[in-house]
Amino acid sequence: MKIEDCHNVDDLRRAARARAHRMVFDYIDGAADDEVAIRNNNHSFRAFEIVHKVLTGAEQVDLSTTLLGHRLKVPFFLAPSAGNRLFHKDGERAVAAAAAKVGTIYSLSTLSTVSIEEIAALTSTPKFFQLYVWKDRGLVREMLARAREAGYAAMILTVDMPIAGNRERDKHNRFTIPPKITLRQIWDALRAPRWTLDYFTSPPITYANYAARTKATSLARFFEEQLHAGFGWRDAEWLLGEWNGTSVLKGVVSPADAVRAAATGFNGIMLSNHGGRQLDASPAPITMLGPIRDRIGNDAELIVDGGIRRCSDIIKAMALGANAVSFARPYLYGLAAAGQQGVERALDLFVTGLKRDMVLTGASSIAALDESFIRYKA
Ligand code: GLV
Repeated sequence: MKIEDCHNVDDLRRAARARAHRMVFDYIDGAADDEVAIRNNNHSFRAFEIVHKVLTGAEQVDLSTTLLGHRLKVPFFLAPSAGNRLFHKDGERAVAAAAAKVGTIYSLSTLSTVSIEEIAALTSTPKFFQLYVWKDRGLVREMLARAREAGYAAMILTVDMPIAGNRERDKHNRFTIPPKITLRQIWDALRAPRWTLDYFTSPPITYANYAARTKATSLARFFEEQLHAGFGWRDAEWLLGEWNGTSVLKGVVSPADAVRAAATGFNGIMLSNHGGRQLDASPAPITMLGPIRDRIGNDAELIVDGGIRRCSDIIKAMALGANAVSFARPYLYGLAAAGQQGVERALDLFVTGLKRDMVLTGASSIAALDESFIRYKA
């Protein structure tokens, strides 16, 4: 499937499946347990309808929005995701470059396959740095110092992954980064020749930020040993002190947690269930936006992460009071399908589609969206 024939996220997903090694596609596409949460994330947007307004004269639309002090040309930014060079040799470089082209924020995962410093130097648009809660405080300090030094504008602390979720597709595929060579992997590699050629002609894939500290082959173990399930609110306070800059807490769905996050000093909260990859029973972030906004008012900025597949999803989230939305799978499908060109295609579909849907909604700017545009289908 040619990338120019992809007209929506589902098309990009199909193109990714056609090009990528099966375990790679499954790692991107899969989620926890029965994959209920991911389906729910996507479908929950359908519970909201946009009550479009007519004869508003909305023709040229202003898609810009302000997030944590940064003016973005669009109301979305790119959520962090691990291991991008495994999906396509262009990896994180392609995603960061595509984000800069549309004038939005790129967030780099701790578990990126291109280093903190290289990505920082690649473009001049603001970037956020995502951090996991590691047991080794020295390692946490080191990551934060590197991100600060490299000029990242905010730190995103991911807290919905105290331990790894139950991702059964990855278990069935015996997924590891880098891949282990088994008969099944070889068979799947032969069925994905373009991915395989890329893989064998590119530099070895490592988690670039840890390369000096741990061998890539032992990273799964490192992850298991390092994730700090005992990390609590007091530790989060410590971490905020260490970072001493703009911060976002990622992985919140509970209104009480949102209140606590704002009181602890987080400037932003990412409503997220990790794309359904962690607790399969957790609610869709969009359904928690209203309750959380009601509880915290404007004490923190809110980002809806999870289930954005259509431009109307973005309009709904913004009308319901989000400061921005974020997504990963849509651009990852693009990346796995066609490298940087695929990521650009994914983002372009959102930009052009948003312009169209805003005109159809009858709103000339993102700032003009409010709850009067939304009806909840009980
Ligand atoms: C990592 O964050 C993952 O969800 O695989």
